Amino acid sequence: MPPLFRRAALAILLAAFGAAAFAQAQKAPAYEPTSGQEGKDVVWIPTPQVVVDKMLDMARVGPADFVMDLGSGDGRTVITAAKRGARALGVEYNPDMVEYAKRLAHKEGVTNRASFVKQDLFQTDLSQATVITMFLLPDINLKLRPKILELKPGTRIVSNSFTMGDWKEDEKAEMSRDAGCNVSWCTALLWIVPAKVAGVYKVPQGDLTLKQQFQELSGTLHTGGQTYALQGKVRGEEIQFTAGGRRYNGRWNGKTVELKS
Ligand SMILES: C[S@@+](CC[C@H](N)C(=O)[O-])C[C@H]1O[C@@H](n2cnc3c(N)ncnc32)[C@H](O)[C@@H]1O
Repeated sequence: MPPLFRRAALAILLAAFGAAAFAQAQKAPAYEPTSGQEGKDVVWIPTPQVVVDKMLDMARVGPADFVMDLGSGDGRTVITAAKRGARALGVEYNPDMVEYAKRLAHKEGVTNRASFVKQDLFQTDLSQATVITMFLLPDINLKLRPKILELKPGTRIVSNSFTMGDWKEDEKAEMSRDAGCNVSWCTALLWIVPAKVAGVYKVPQGDLTLKQQFQELSGTLHTGGQTYALQGKVRGEEIQFTAGGRRYNGRWNGKTVELKS
């Protein structure tokens, strides 16, 4: 075939192929997820919107936050956080769900603050998050727990329904039917990553020995010639305990305990 004809034939072929691909794309129905569909480590079931709102309320999400939703599904938590002014990132293994969530974020006008990445949540760097949200499974939460406990003290973790083993939540809210939760999965749980404060300290009041199990504190305060057993909590860097019938407040400054009265 002379070169001119060959080029013309190629052009016709490419045009026909392009038209067919375009028609195919036009015909393909947009991806629609189905509640209960398979996921890598857990199926997709969306958190009821009232529970999303409650979870973000409990974590006090605002413009200063960077929220990460682990297993972000249709992106509703990320989008809601972005509407509150936070930067938010959804980590989702299913690429169709990632694209679906991006489309919803676009529709809601929050693409400047809401983004999504196709990634395994177990391979994800969580260190920049100020808030982590999740609706996974108890054993997945437990697997993530060591990594979560190494995050910056004060990082808030909120989970729909599933617990964190023997690390008891700091707050729990059950959403009733009256509150608008008329399906299952209506419990929001909050944990605040505690600073690691166990140790022996000289404080203005005397000698303080702190033992720590997650956010729960026990130990002794030796003051005024007496030794008292103490019970208390550490919430992020804030410390509170009672000893000898008195209440004490303090904070962890990164090196030591600063005890007020
Ligand atoms: C129960 S849904 C929760 C969706 C969303 N966070 C919500 O609360 O509406 C769990 C999501 O995790 C995703 N997923 C499962 N295993 C994952 C993994 N290893 N890494 C990232 N995402 C995963 C599933 O595809 C699904 O979308």
